[in-house]
Amino acid sequence: MAEDKLQKIISFCKRRGFIFAGSDIYGGISSIWDYGPMGVKIKKKIKDIWWGTYVDQREDIVGLDSSIIMHEGVFRASGHLEGFTDLLVDCPQCKRRNRVDKMEKVDDSTSRCPDCNFKIDIKTCKPRKFNLMLKTNMSATEDQPYYGYLRPETAQGIFVNFKNVQDTTHKKIPFGIAQIGKAFRNEVTTGSFIFRMKEFEQMEIEFFTSPTEADAWHAKWIDERFNFYINKLGINKENLRLRPHEKDELAHYAKACTDIEFNFPFGWSELEGIANRTDFDLREHSRVSTKDLSYFDQETKERFMPHVIEPSAGVDRTFFAVLSNAYHEEIVNDKTRIVLKFKPEIAPYRAAILPLLKNRPELVELAKNIFYGIKDKIPAQYDDSAAIGKLYRRQDEIGTPFCVTVDVETLTDRKITIRDRDTMQQDRIDISRIEEFINNKTHLG
Ligand code: GAP
Repeated sequence: MAEDKLQKIISFCKRRGFIFAGSDIYGGISSIWDYGPMGVKIKKKIKDIWWGTYVDQREDIVGLDSSIIMHEGVFRASGHLEGFTDLLVDCPQCKRRNRVDKMEKVDDSTSRCPDCNFKIDIKTCKPRKFNLMLKTNMSATEDQPYYGYLRPETAQGIFVNFKNVQDTTHKKIPFGIAQIGKAFRNEVTTGSFIFRMKEFEQMEIEFFTSPTEADAWHAKWIDERFNFYINKLGINKENLRLRPHEKDELAHYAKACTDIEFNFPFGWSELEGIANRTDFDLREHSRVSTKDLSYFDQETKERFMPHVIEPSAGVDRTFFAVLSNAYHEEIVNDKTRIVLKFKPEIAPYRAAILPLLKNRPELVELAKNIFYGIKDKIPAQYDDSAAIGKLYRRQDEIGTPFCVTVDVETLTDRKITIRDRDTMQQDRIDISRIEEFINNKTHLG
């Protein structure tokens, strides 16, 4: 059932230009996905809303765009070279390679292969450690390789720039550094669409506090980020929940972590993690780089290593959550209507301008004039490439909140029909009122 729902969403995303398999014409490439024309619009809106909320509107957070390829020393200090590993075991029956921590346990020594159900004796099958980092040869000659690493989290770019940013902005603690960017992990578990990819994007804030205020800021950030998904992205509260980590599942750098989970088509899973990373990262980077990253508080005259609260969200998982939350199937006149009920701020377009008859040049001309008149104020699309029923279905499927139809009567009464995506109710209003009508209904403008 869950598999059906996931497959349905994957093929829908391809059919409507949201997401395509990476390197598609060559048969695809495992756990790599591309965003199509509709997908990229939504993805950009998600990033813009996040950046606007935290960097543009807050005084205590500044932005950064650090490089993807980083020095080996960074990952020696962060612990990724040593500890960023999955324990893998091959199934003796179907040969599938499995992550031990993701398999269903039968008893203390055996676990079940998720593909063929074979009971694997973990010890005799000798699980092996597999580092998830992708490294790249940066040397000009093959015989003297020199490796750089593709960052597995954007966070490390922030830690290594902590002093640069603090020295140049003179921000006083508590303050945060925010970054949106690509991260890379050689994930072994595949087949969960854009939930787990080898190349993905993160939106991370490293929020630096004094040691005594870290716990209070952790609680604040959990609250803030949970409400962001509801208020800014329009995700239903029932599809979200908080899950504090057990002590034995915490990452090596974390003292505490709470996940925000979303009810994905395959079940509840992590959308974002909000961790208390203590002073682990700055302390380790100070030690390995031998550059002092401590902070001097001018007011208390105290020097300390800042502690870090990290709300770490995945852009792709947020996209997946926003899309699954919006996806609805309804029966209308005995036919299935697929409609994406996006919040208007997220939808690729807010309005579509459609002539009822494309073989009437005067209708087409008027519809195009209306389109050119509003497109700079309201994100809109013009379409005359099919019959009106089909055009409505297309717009429902990309989540356009309003369709504006120009018919023969419009030529004389200067009124259009405006159709609401969710209720399918149609109103007839004057051309001059389109913008005001949409802005009132969407509370935008
Ligand atoms: N800096 C902390 C960190 O990277 P994480 O829990 O490993 O923590 C944070 O990742 C978020 O990044 C996750 O909650 C998820 O949204 C996203 N993420 C992690 N790995 C991913 C992958 N392979 N594909 C897509 N998104 C991923």
